[in-house]
Amino acid sequence: MSLSVYVHIPYCVKRCGYCDFNTYTPGELRQGSDSVASVAEGYIDALLDEIEIAREQTGEQAISTIFFGGGTPTLLPAKQLARVLNRLNERFGLTENCEITTEANPDSVDASSLKELREVGFNRISFGVQSVKPHVLAVLDRTHNSNRVGEVVNDARSAGFDSISVDLIYGTPSESVTDFSESLDFALSLPIDHLSAYALIVEEGTKFGAAVRRGEVVMPDDDESAEKYLLLDRKVSTAGFEWYELSNWSKAGHQCRHNEAYWLSADWWGFGAGAHSHLSGKRWWNIKHPKSYIESIKAGGSPAAASETLSQKDQAIEDLMLRIRMRSGIELNRFEKNQLTVLEDFYQRGLFLPDSWKSGRAVLSLEGRLLADQVVREVIS
Ligand SMILES: C[S@@+](CC[C@H](N)C(=O)[O-])C[C@H]1O[C@@H](n2cnc3c(N)ncnc32)[C@H](O)[C@@H]1O
Ligand code: SF4
Repeated sequence: MSLSVYVHIPYCVKRCGYCDFNTYTPGELRQGSDSVASVAEGYIDALLDEIEIAREQTGEQAISTIFFGGGTPTLLPAKQLARVLNRLNERFGLTENCEITTEANPDSVDASSLKELREVGFNRISFGVQSVKPHVLAVLDRTHNSNRVGEVVNDARSAGFDSISVDLIYGTPSESVTDFSESLDFALSLPIDHLSAYALIVEEGTKFGAAVRRGEVVMPDDDESAEKYLLLDRKVSTAGFEWYELSNWSKAGHQCRHNEAYWLSADWWGFGAGAHSHLSGKRWWNIKHPKSYIESIKAGGSPAAASETLSQKDQAIEDLMLRIRMRSGIELNRFEKNQLTVLEDFYQRGLFLPDSWKSGRAVLSLEGRLLADQVVREVIS
């Protein structure tokens, strides 16, 4: 048995208007002019304590993937992140080819910090690039200048990362198809092995969500989103990347094994404020605010806020929703009779690949990928 580990670092310099992740700026934390690194010292101590709690509960299991996400993990010096990595290694042990990723904002790293991250053990890095067009970055409220992106990706390559990924967002109001095409061309001109591209989601309660509700910005229609997705798939395929999940493409051997573990419902422990965990069908999630999370751990309590155990039926629905998004697809014999009738209809409409279907698996065709949400909705209804 092996375990995947997520480590949440809930700090950002500034909140992007569209983002509702569990993250806090120094101002929100009311720590005056303290740097994020000093605010985070106590947080790292709490993470180390949670590692002790996890080790007691899981028993012996080597860790096969580790993912530091946020927030902005790279706001903290590599030395601080290394305290967590070292403790995980001491208490659990890492598999020989353990994938160790950190997310990074392009303006939160430079050549020397990237070298340090590599030296303390990170072997994969995922840059939040989103777009290279300044007017699109402005709508998204991003802090980075797109000129930095090429530099830091090349610096990461020089530092010796095994896999480098770039995240793009498409469908931002004001982004034309040509704008997106230019962002893609730029990303594909960099020495990367992996690309994630997500359609912008309008999240309730964000600054951006409020602007959409007030009609100040207008989201693109489905046809425009589909046009961008088709352009995306065509360009990345031509550049030698293969899709392995609806929003993820990689060169051979560079799939993100950590995300695959989520999608295949493997066991993972999420450390830190608001992080979610899943062990053998039981899930729980931690106290959301970093201050309360730290206090609870310091007082010898559990960091968990609540838990649930999925029924077999709910687990099957969730597996279906995740696996159908993957290139490996899902075995037809997992579906109930009425679900198969619905799928058969989609198959007749060309939404699944015939070769896979004939060998007993439902794998979405390109057209099917555009309608994945509808397929899932109708199959589980
Ligand atoms: C939460 S961020 C954390 C990493 C880093 N702070 C960054 O912004 O790149 C991870 C990814 O989620 C994306 N994301 C956050 N909110 C989103 C939304 N509403 N729609 C689509 N992608 C979103 C980000 O743009 C980013 O690429
Ligand atoms: S930098 Fe990343 S985590 Fe922070 S607010 Fe922006 S998208 Fe969210």
